[in-house]
Amino acid sequence: MKSRKQTILVISDFHAPYNHPDAVAFLRACKKKYKPTDVVCIGDETDFHAMSFHDSNPDLPSAGDELKLAIKELKKLYRLFPDCTVVESNHGSMVLRKALAKGFPQVVLKSYNEILEAPRSWKWVPDVTLKTPIGPVYFCHGKVGGAGKLASQYGMSCVQGHFHEKAQITYISTPEKLMFDAHTGCLADDDSLALAYNKVNPKRPILSVLVIVDGVPQIVPMLLAKNGRWMGTV
Ligand SMILES: [Fe+2]
Repeated sequence: MKSRKQTILVISDFHAPYNHPDAVAFLRACKKKYKPTDVVCIGDETDFHAMSFHDSNPDLPSAGDELKLAIKELKKLYRLFPDCTVVESNHGSMVLRKALAKGFPQVVLKSYNEILEAPRSWKWVPDVTLKTPIGPVYFCHGKVGGAGKLASQYGMSCVQGHFHEKAQITYISTPEKLMFDAHTGCLADDDSLALAYNKVNPKRPILSVLVIVDGVPQIVPMLLAKNGRWMGTV
């Protein structure tokens, strides 16, 4: 009997609670279609706008209220994907980053799971490498924006998020192997005031996820109608 394919679903830059209003429905459809065996969230699962190092918008919820709203959104992901590896990131790790900046050692802090009411099967790591049938794949939040650069430097396939306007796959061939370098896109709500900083970037965000089936990557775009809502197909 043929064994089940390894299917890695890569989710990036959800930015709860400022995720696109249809992002969860889109992910549910992706789960149904691709039946992932592994789920990797490559950071910015939460926005932490009000806790940011930057000024926060006074028309948005307070830090405490934003966290409650973020947990409400993330709980939908916990139900959808009971097991998930999450990599640390500039937004998602805001509590840790600010605590360290103010001189608090990590040992005095609550864990990501406690803060976000996440199940223990959601595991936060600095980065992660998974084996696939055609070689290892390295996942991190975002180190290099240029197409193909991180995989060339690391000598293995790499997947990054962080760059909301990048959803791309570049293949790199050597005499010994074939590698890919991918940027996943995001699932943030471009209309949110919390994402206003993106407006100065002429390149618009791309809403999408990445699926890696037996080592072969594929971008799955979240197609939007003119009104900005998901069209309902994957
Ligand atoms: Fe992000």
